[in-house]
Amino acid sequence: MFKNDLKKAVSILQKGGLVAMPTETVYGLAADAKNPDALKKIFQAKGRPVDHPLIVHMGDISELKNWAFNVSDQAYLLAQKFWPGPLTLILKKAPGVLDLITGSQETIGIRMPNHPVALELLKMFGSGVAAPSANRFGRISPTTAKAVAEELGSSVDLILEGGQCDVGVESTIVDMSGKFPRILRPGMISVSEIEQVLHEHLSSQQDNLPRVSGSLESHYAPTTKTFLMDQSQIQKWLKQNPNEKIALMIHSFELNKNNIHTTQMPKNPKEYAHDLYHTLRELDHQGFAQIIIEKVPNESEWAAIEDRLQRAAF
Ligand code: TXA
Ligand code: MG
Repeated sequence: MFKNDLKKAVSILQKGGLVAMPTETVYGLAADAKNPDALKKIFQAKGRPVDHPLIVHMGDISELKNWAFNVSDQAYLLAQKFWPGPLTLILKKAPGVLDLITGSQETIGIRMPNHPVALELLKMFGSGVAAPSANRFGRISPTTAKAVAEELGSSVDLILEGGQCDVGVESTIVDMSGKFPRILRPGMISVSEIEQVLHEHLSSQQDNLPRVSGSLESHYAPTTKTFLMDQSQIQKWLKQNPNEKIALMIHSFELNKNNIHTTQMPKNPKEYAHDLYHTLRELDHQGFAQIIIEKVPNESEWAAIEDRLQRAAF
């Protein structure tokens, strides 16, 4: 059954269709990265502006040379250390890479996902697959097959079941195409882990930024109004608004008020990230007036979570 699904998925990709593919971060909406008509369907299905570049996913590091040009030793070091895994490298694009992939820029985003279903699919397909997160533009990324169906419904030809995503937030994006490595999107591979491999500091300089849709201030957002507060702000708010029908997401303290829908989030950032989108999505369905989320620590292991919460609440 599993093998059959993968065979069907490969045949859909070969015919220019769309397949939702589980990865370790979030589910991706996959299409043949060399087929412009298939790529156009991705933008249509997501409602995403066409100048936003796509990440190419590959099943083997040896494919890198087909997509990227002049890959530095430093970039190879990162690929060898973290692939397959939740790291995307921005590199100079190889000649012939389609403008729909790069957003007409000179660079390309590439990663090798660490999920058995994705890896098997990519190996069977034998070429690069473009895959943005399988959500409507600006919305919460899906971390289950069910969430993909909610987001994209019939605009995807096949949804591969791969369980709930392990990591739960999108990959770390590192730009290795310029003079200095720099971080474009924080993920669960932290800046310090990357710096340890490179023996070099990562810049977070934000000028001349390539277009990164996840860098918009509002993104990864529920439809319910969402706010970030620290513990004391939450306590105060609850006193002042005793009758509001709200949902709370807290992690550092406990609250036993039976009139308030409280989700106790994990204290550990890895587990928190794993639960984050799933929890937001579930709460978003329940018609609360607001979602109030406790701020997370200002520490490097929490950077990706902090980033997503800021955008969800913008
Ligand atoms: O974890 C992930 O990266 C997931 C899974 C499915 O692999 N994918 C994902 O794709 O998050 P997407 O399209 O939702 O976000 C990719 C981000 C976008 O913000 C895009 O602008 C940026 O990567 N990006 C892609 N190519 C780029 C490039 N050449 N230069 C700068 N940013 C790029
Ligand atoms: Mg996305």
